[in-house]
Amino acid sequence: MKVLVVGSGGREHAIAWSFARSGRVEQVYCAKGNAGIAQVAKLVDIGPEDVVGLADFAVSEEIDLTFVGPENSLAAGITDEFEKRGRRIVGASAAASRLESSKSFAKDFMARHGIPTAAYETAGSAEEAVTILESGKFGDKDSPVVVKADGLAAGKGVIMASDRAEAIEAVRSLKAGEIIDSAAASTIVLEECLFGKEVSLLMFADGNHFALMPPTRDHKRIGEGDTGPNTGGMGTVTDPSMLSAEQTRTIVSDIIEPTLAGAASEGFPFKGILFLGLMMTSEGAKVLEYNVRFGDPETQAILVNLETDLTGICEAIIEGTLEKTVISWKEGSSACVILASENYPSTPRKGDVIEGLDAASKHENVEVFHAGTAFDDSSRYVTSGGRVLAVTAVASNMSNSLHRAYKAVNEISWPGMQYRRDIGK
Ligand code: AMP
Ligand code: GLY
Repeated sequence: MKVLVVGSGGREHAIAWSFARSGRVEQVYCAKGNAGIAQVAKLVDIGPEDVVGLADFAVSEEIDLTFVGPENSLAAGITDEFEKRGRRIVGASAAASRLESSKSFAKDFMARHGIPTAAYETAGSAEEAVTILESGKFGDKDSPVVVKADGLAAGKGVIMASDRAEAIEAVRSLKAGEIIDSAAASTIVLEECLFGKEVSLLMFADGNHFALMPPTRDHKRIGEGDTGPNTGGMGTVTDPSMLSAEQTRTIVSDIIEPTLAGAASEGFPFKGILFLGLMMTSEGAKVLEYNVRFGDPETQAILVNLETDLTGICEAIIEGTLEKTVISWKEGSSACVILASENYPSTPRKGDVIEGLDAASKHENVEVFHAGTAFDDSSRYVTSGGRVLAVTAVASNMSNSLHRAYKAVNEISWPGMQYRRDIGK
């Protein structure tokens, strides 16, 4: 079987690595990939939003299965294009991708289907947003409010305002294009601020049925103790104990089943990977966001735990037979620590030579996935992005998986390398 993975980060390295381990896969391709992904895949120089170029490649190379990593490719309609051409692909359709690409669409969808989420309002203009904020709907002038840009903004479109004045300033700066492209902020979503522990729960879905992955927790801020600016994610842990059996049952009945039934009834059956960002509040789990894809770096920690061949799961998603597919996971826990370059997340420095990769890779039950690496003229690995490596370990429990991951991290260095020492704490 020939498999194509779309995307270029640590998530895609973990996906390509999983396919490369399958006895059924003779060649993995990755568009565009990175220097680390080149260990397990042939790199293809086509960008994720060039859906016609990717479909042309899949047809000419007779790719049997394509798996899509990033949301921009899904929102650009890659799945629809491949299906139109009769190519097998795993990823949400453009219509289903609206659950991620438009926060107002997702909130209205949840309201239509009675899915628990933070109270919200949407505003087309800054004036309208200010009127809503001043109406008292989100509490008095000292109450926290969450201000979100409607569109895709790589995690930068969400501002946690600690009071009304900050919220008004957040609306102004989103509208002025000071944080993200203002096109993504044509609609603003205002939300009640929820409190509790966050859990990410991902699943495979085939339109009607789903299969849960182990729950994970992401650490989004750059600094230890959850300080400093948000990043794409500085590390994750998976551990079955993050959700009790009772909590999981309620999430299934109150959130997952209505989401899949609602999507099907509105004409966009959800097939692919569905990611629930959840806040475990005192009133139970509430949806913070939907993502229509694997998370990065959740995926790295999840896939090292997967025992079942990923190709078979992909076939079940495409054919609608997930209910009959047995998916097994390693017992225990896993941890992923992101190593980032100097100045990430603002203006990461590139081109630093990475030392110690071979030594780290020799650690048992450790995988070093590459997020942003390239080769220099002497074929050495150098940093080429903000998040550079995802050092991932599995073990029988969380403290052992963290210990293993950090032992491997200690082998690796480059000037200005940064990472959090409190992942999983
Ligand atoms: P989102 O991209 O919508 O998931 O938001 C990014 C992050 O902002 C989430 O992971 C939460 O940490 C935080 N967040 C988003 N919405 C809320 C909310 N209504 N209440 C509290 N925190 C939130
Ligand atoms: N780590 C969060 C995300 O992939 O959206």
